[in-house]
Amino acid sequence: MILVTTGGKVGSETARLLAERGVPVRILVRDPDKAAALARSGVEIAEGDLEVPGTIDAAMKGVSSIVLVSPPVVRQELNAVDAAVRAGAGHIVKVTAKASSDSPVVRRRNQHEIEQGVIASGLGYTFLRNNAYMQNFLMMAPGIARTSSFSTATGDGRIGHIDARDVAAVAAEIAASPDGHAGKEYWPTGPEVLSSAQAAEVLSKVLGRTITFNPISYEEQKQAMIRVGLPEAVAEDNAKAVSMMADGDCDYVTDDVPSLLGRPARSFERFATDFARAFS
Ligand SMILES: NC(=O)c1ccc[n+]([C@@H]2O[C@H](COP(=O)([O-])OP(=O)(O)OC[C@H]3O[C@@H](n4cnc5c(N)ncnc54)[C@H](OP(=O)(O)O)[C@@H]3O)[C@@H](O)[C@H]2O)c1
Repeated sequence: MILVTTGGKVGSETARLLAERGVPVRILVRDPDKAAALARSGVEIAEGDLEVPGTIDAAMKGVSSIVLVSPPVVRQELNAVDAAVRAGAGHIVKVTAKASSDSPVVRRRNQHEIEQGVIASGLGYTFLRNNAYMQNFLMMAPGIARTSSFSTATGDGRIGHIDARDVAAVAAEIAASPDGHAGKEYWPTGPEVLSSAQAAEVLSKVLGRTITFNPISYEEQKQAMIRVGLPEAVAEDNAKAVSMMADGDCDYVTDDVPSLLGRPARSFERFATDFARAFS
């Protein structure tokens, strides 16, 4: 049995893919109603909350591998790691990012602390240090639908965006067959690096109308995030991460996805085509 925490973009697709392969899979979610489609696909649903260790212990019964994919809240993910140790699980696939102890971005420092906890647990582990998700564009989709434009502080920085569905496919593959992946870290990316101006060109081609990219400053990015309701500290952290992209922080691609899956990583054009309705 594989346990996936939680049922967000990556977790729900990971669970769906495992069920499709006939691998017994359980997903820990706070609200089972949101996981109704997964239940119909054969995924076992465990109602739980990463804040409440007893609920994680219940979800952990008989589990051999875990896909740890949750917001980078140190206490919550380490609760899951502790529960995995108590349950005698064998392997953790940890979905993470460019984590480091001295990153200016708080969530990357948190990811580093969680990774250290995973290593210290003594369980087998694999880290997926993913590049930025293409699905981040979906947060801007209502604005793109309305104004045919989007604004970010990414400047001319190029980004090796990865489709979150490919992150899920990699996580499912490793969780189902962890042999050979213990103690390894991968850097999954998409197949190409694109600046935001180039991403706008792809969106224009796919959507059949001109989509314009408006560069904005770090401060404008932060204020825009506060306006959509993010707490100031989170807006500041996100704006920092976005501004670092302008300086080349995400300007790299690897062949991890094709090497692990035996097929190419999805392109940004594929993503834009599959999610065209959200931008229209
Ligand atoms: N976005 C990026 O560009 C990017 C890049 C690299 C790495 N990552 C990493 O990817 C991971 C996020 O993956 P994602 O995009 O799939 O996440 P997501 O779509 O934001 O989903 C997060 C899920 O966590 C659930 N959740 C929140 N608090 C919970 C709790 N206390 N107990 C149980 N469930 C809880 C939420 O459920 P509810 O529906 O109940 O709220 C939601 O389903 C993070 O580790 C992040 O650092 C992201």
